[in-house]
Amino acid sequence: MAAKIPLSRVYQSELIDRRILEVVKGGNYILGPECREFEKELAAYFGVPHVVLSSSWTAAVHLLHIAQGLKPGDEVLVPSLTAFPSIEPMIHVGAVPVFCDIDDTYTICPEDAKKRITKKTVGILPVHLYGRPVNLNAFQKLAKDHNLWIIEDCAQSHGAKYHGQRAGSFTEHAAFSFYPSKNLTVYGDGGAIATKDPEIARKVTMLRNHGRKDKYLHEKVGYNLRFNEINAAVGREQLKVLDELNAGRRRAAEWYRRELAGVKGIVLPPVDIAGETETVYHMFVIRLDDHDTRESLGKHLKEKGIETGVHYPVPNHRQPAIEELYGTLPSLPKTEDYVRRILSLPMFPSLTEEEVKTVAEGIKGFMQGR
Ligand SMILES: Cc1ncc(COP(=O)(O)O)c(C=O)c1O
Repeated sequence: MAAKIPLSRVYQSELIDRRILEVVKGGNYILGPECREFEKELAAYFGVPHVVLSSSWTAAVHLLHIAQGLKPGDEVLVPSLTAFPSIEPMIHVGAVPVFCDIDDTYTICPEDAKKRITKKTVGILPVHLYGRPVNLNAFQKLAKDHNLWIIEDCAQSHGAKYHGQRAGSFTEHAAFSFYPSKNLTVYGDGGAIATKDPEIARKVTMLRNHGRKDKYLHEKVGYNLRFNEINAAVGREQLKVLDELNAGRRRAAEWYRRELAGVKGIVLPPVDIAGETETVYHMFVIRLDDHDTRESLGKHLKEKGIETGVHYPVPNHRQPAIEELYGTLPSLPKTEDYVRRILSLPMFPSLTEEEVKTVAEGIKGFMQGR
């Protein structure tokens, strides 16, 4: 049975239905005018000179790493608490993820990252996890002091702001995912890189389409990691309402804060720092006292038809695939502690005040009845 209140719900509209049909009838399906316009509109929205679409975040970043010349043995600082795909592209080109701990914002801790810099470190991939911008000032300073590049992982943060400016526009490169649960989606897989470097944009554009320079002229051996017209048309319509959708998420977050204020045994997500961060709540993540409470609360809510999630239950430095590659890695205390206690509550733009109250009642009932 479908949950009464799902973890996420995709925004749909009749206008988008019509646009899909229009593209289908138009007969142009891959890397056509919809893709070109979507790239331009994304660049304008994020305030960056170049955006290149690809078939997913993972695909786009793989091409970006190739274009950057990331090579075997290079080290990249990255939080362990992120989706596994954050680290897959760098591993595919032979670079080594250097896992960093988080701070109380659940994002990569700048002091911890600094300690892990070696002669082999070439870059940082900070993740604006759950829609909250990382401490970009600290990372930009670190990058400058040690001559490192930064790729902002914006898969969960479309529209988030840091000091009034959109996340994704601060550093030389950024990457976005349009997977269905994301703040900006295209009704399927999709992704893009943003870059300030025209040569990187050119290379990624060439590599995503079989290394083509021209229809029958191949500059490099490339890939088929292109983008589709139907998805682009959907993305263009979603982008027009992205600020509204994010406002819906922020409103729901405020309702959660009101309804759950003072409930013993629950830590709410960190609030925004005035004038510094504007979180877009890809997730609304609470933290419980211990693992058993998290598990039992999740079950209790499920019985009430409320879907929850854990993002993420196994940190990347403890994934079997990583232990197979690098052996057992040293502990990251905060990450390992928090992954056992975090719980993601339903969060999407159309979440109603009634639904938030139902979730909060379920949580309060469970916490008081223990
Ligand atoms: C933080 C983060 N980075 C990267 C990705 C990978 O995105 P995609 O599924 O578009 O490859 C995701 C999505 O799962 C994500 O949440």
